[in-house]
Amino acid sequence: MPGFTIRPLAASDRRAVAFTFGRLSERSRYQRYLTTKPALTPRDLRLLLDVDHWHHEALIAYSPPPRAPIGIARYVRLKEFDAAEVAVEVVDGWQRHGVGTALMVALSEQAARAGIRRFHVSMLRDNAGARALARKLGRPNQPATVIAAAGNVVELTYSVSAGSSGPAGSSGLGSSPPSPPTATGVG
Ligand SMILES: CC(C)(COP(=O)(O)OP(=O)(O)OC[C@H]1O[C@@H](n2cnc3c(N)ncnc32)[C@H](O)[C@@H]1OP(=O)(O)O)[C@@H](O)C(=O)NCCC(=O)NCCS
Repeated sequence: MPGFTIRPLAASDRRAVAFTFGRLSERSRYQRYLTTKPALTPRDLRLLLDVDHWHHEALIAYSPPPRAPIGIARYVRLKEFDAAEVAVEVVDGWQRHGVGTALMVALSEQAARAGIRRFHVSMLRDNAGARALARKLGRPNQPATVIAAAGNVVELTYSVSAGSSGPAGSSGLGSSPPSPPTATGVG
């Protein structure tokens, strides 16, 4: 379904983050946070909004008019400079319409410009959507691989491949590299 748009999340997007969370089903919240998550705490919101567009980037997707937030993808750089943890969520009413793919393709492009070469993602073992997304985004000759498993959670890693899998939405994020933060960054 075409017509959704993607832009970087701003530190002031508190309501949009809360709105998106509010439209995730209990199951989607569990899949995203790997625990029961009835609400976002003030601390959660602070961390989710603490983007510097270099160590921590988040992109938000909006539906066509009447515009509403429908998904968020983010990376947070790990201790290894060229690796980042990623997480993505798409509100249930918009799942399986290409939003997750478009967000992750745009996020991969931003990450590549920030020097990130590998994504790590933790997911429930039976999360078919997240697995399909990781499979789709990994480089064809370097498929996503499981690097850790504990109980019903697995951690996958795959190479960031910028410029693949054309998204259905439009990001208009431009091609200039993200700026390193001038003050303190995260991690
Ligand atoms: C995982 C998630 C982000 C996928 O987003 P989405 O917008 O539905 O994904 P897309 O529509 O771009 O689909 C991507 C691929 O996954 C496949 N897919 C999506 N959901 C699927 C499901 N439930 N079962 C099997 N395949 C699925 C699609 O068919 C597509 O593959 P294709 O292009 O080869 O057909 C979304 O389901 C979600 O938010 N889930 C809850 C949170 C979560 O699990 N996050 C991941 C862990 S951080």
